[in-house]
Order: sequence, then structure tokens, then C-alpha cells
Amino acid sequence: MSRTAYVNGRYCDLRDACVNVEDRGYQFADGVYEVCEVRGARLVDFPRHMVRLQRSLRELQIDEPMPITALAIIMREVVRRNRVTYGIVYLQVTRGVARRDHAFPPSSVKPSVVVTARALDYEKKQQTAATGIKVITLAENRWPRVDIKSVSLLPNVLAKQEAREKGAYEAWYVDSDGFVTEGASSNAWIVTKDGRAVTRSVDRGILAGITRAVLVEVMGALQIRLEERPFTPAEAREAAEAFVTSASQIVMPVVAIDGRVVGNGQPGGITRQLREEFHRFSAFS
Ligand code: PDD
Repeated sequence: MSRTAYVNGRYCDLRDACVNVEDRGYQFADGVYEVCEVRGARLVDFPRHMVRLQRSLRELQIDEPMPITALAIIMREVVRRNRVTYGIVYLQVTRGVARRDHAFPPSSVKPSVVVTARALDYEKKQQTAATGIKVITLAENRWPRVDIKSVSLLPNVLAKQEAREKGAYEAWYVDSDGFVTEGASSNAWIVTKDGRAVTRSVDRGILAGITRAVLVEVMGALQIRLEERPFTPAEAREAAEAFVTSASQIVMPVVAIDGRVVGNGQPGGITRQLREEFHRFSAFS
């Protein structure tokens, strides 16, 4: 089946989906994005993703390309045309097409909008969650504004590649104070031996993950204690459990950090419970 993308007002075959070479997303990574999980052909926690999108756009002074209601229609349509029941939908907004010049183009330049959707293999994902993933740690080398969900992801690309080459799936950044910030495409968590979930607070050094925000609510409902504070790789290696959160992974157990087993090397009980309960607390649209 051929796949369909939305590009600046048109639905087209993904193979022919192109942006102008002078798109500022292409030239300068001057744009932002969102990834929503798709379940039962519906968008998971879409309103929260749109609130974060609006914030990212505001921080970069990029105009909102259209009302959120219109974006919702397009994203659902791309999901429908690609017959995605389980997977992800990707939205990218850039500052638009203009003659290459670093400073902002005239205000007449309209933002570019791209939407794609992709089915994921549900069973395969569940199998991965049943065994857990490995992570490596590396020095934080991103710009300080990682709170903006920018398409400028070169450090993240390099981190993921290093993880792959070391037989791991995710890379956790460690800041200059020796604390884990987050993963290259996920937020990082541990569970202490006395059952407290620990993750860094959103005020510095991380993206405010939507999955993270929903999970905080899940923990409240399940009476799982939460500590929002930094932790070191050493504390993580000694923890009872570890996991990452993101729209595409939801709650994904971590069973090894830098080649050292976490807990008993199996996904932890609290992690499994959180993964199972998560979607009872998410909004579907
Ligand atoms: N990644 N931190 C970073 C650096 C991320 O790229 C992501 C998301 C998260 C988790 O955010 P959320 O729970 O809202 O997905 C944290 C997306 C899925 C991606 O880049 O594909």
C-alpha cells in the first residue's frame, strides 16, 4: 500500500512528498515538531501535544500555521489515509521558504506544514517491552533550550547512533554536574528499591514530555510515590527498576545501563504496571 503525506495544503504520495530546498527547516533546522501515538486509529493525548506545539512555536516566534482544529483534521486524515490503527503521526512546522539568510524572513513568509503517519508493529513493541531495552550514557552536548521541541536533532542523532553501535537502544545524557537529563528521544526514570519513581523535574535540561506528564497523573491515581529530582547514572545502575517514556514507547523498561544490569535484568513490576495502566488515563481524539 502506498503511503500518503500532507505537505503545505496537499495530500500526496509519500514518494513524491517534497519541500522546497530553501525551506528553513531544511536549511537551518528552523522548525518544531510533535509526535503523537495512534491507538485504535485515534490520536493519544492530542490536546496536550498541541499545547506544547504552540509553546515551541511561540518560543521561536514562528506563526501558528493554522488553527489547532484544522491541524487536528489534517492529522486524523493522514492517519485515516494511511490506515494506521497503531503507530505514530508526525507533525512538523518550519518557518517557511525564503532566500537563505540566517535572520528571520519577512512576515509574509508562511510556515510550512508536513504531516506523516506510520504504522508500528504492536506485537513487536510488546515483545520489546517484555524483555526491556539497554541504554548507554554520554555527556550532554545539546543546546540549553531542549525544552523547545525543535527539529534540530543532530546531537540526538549522534547519540542514538552511538547507542546502536554499542548494542543499546537509547542514550541518556549526563549533565556537567553528573546527573542524567533525559534520553535522546525519551524522558528517563528510575524506581528506587523502596518503590519511589524518580525523574528529573521539567524546569531545566529536559523536554517536558507529554507521556511523562500523563504518567505523573497515573502515579497519583495508583498511589505510586513520585520524586522529581535529578539522579546520577550510579544511582540508576543500583536502582530497582528503570524505564523511559515517550509517545512512541509509552513506558519502556530499561534493563541495562552501560552494560550493567538494572535490578534482576528483567522489566520491573512497577514499570510493567505503569505501562499496562497508562492508556486508561490518556485522552483519545
Ligand atoms: N521524542 N525527550 C526528548 C528529547 C524527546 O525527543 C522526546 C520525544 C521525549 C518524550 O516526549 P513525549 O512523551 O511527549 O513523546 C523526551 C519523540 C517521540 C520523537 O522524537 O520521536
